[in-house]
Amino acid sequence: MAFKLIVNGRTSSVDVPAGMPLLWVLRDVLNLRGTKYGCGIGECGACTVHVRGKAVRSCQTPVSSAADAQITTIEGLSADGTHPVQLAWQDVDVPQCGYCQAGQMMSAAALLAKTANPSDQDIETAMNGNICRCGTYVRIRQAIHKAAGLATPTQQTQSAQNGSRKE
Ligand code: FES
Repeated sequence: MAFKLIVNGRTSSVDVPAGMPLLWVLRDVLNLRGTKYGCGIGECGACTVHVRGKAVRSCQTPVSSAADAQITTIEGLSADGTHPVQLAWQDVDVPQCGYCQAGQMMSAAALLAKTANPSDQDIETAMNGNICRCGTYVRIRQAIHKAAGLATPTQQTQSAQNGSRKE
């Protein structure tokens, strides 16, 4: 079945089963490998992307439910690596093995698009579903606070705007 997907501002038509997880469409059909497979049951957050500006687990999102929606993956968070989350992550040197980090950054970007200056509690709540086996949680929290300080209002809402932008 053919579905129209708008990923990182680019429209594609994919011919896949309606129930195919968005994760596999992104990785195996559209060749966007930044989004990772972790647990496959929506519990670890490694596969987090934005659909309509909201952080979702792409392993649990049937492609049919994302048709015609604006989808943002880690590759599309910014055109040039200058999203405040990307800059802060580099500055704080957050990753260890790195496997979980695309999902962590997508959850952090969705949080900042909604809450410009999140408290520790806001961060705890928003990031609760993103697991890091290397235990980088302290640096993640530090980087989110730093990103909040770096962001202009325009940058903070970039992802949310992508969620409503029409092609
Ligand atoms: Fe290794 Fe998070 S940096 S799993």
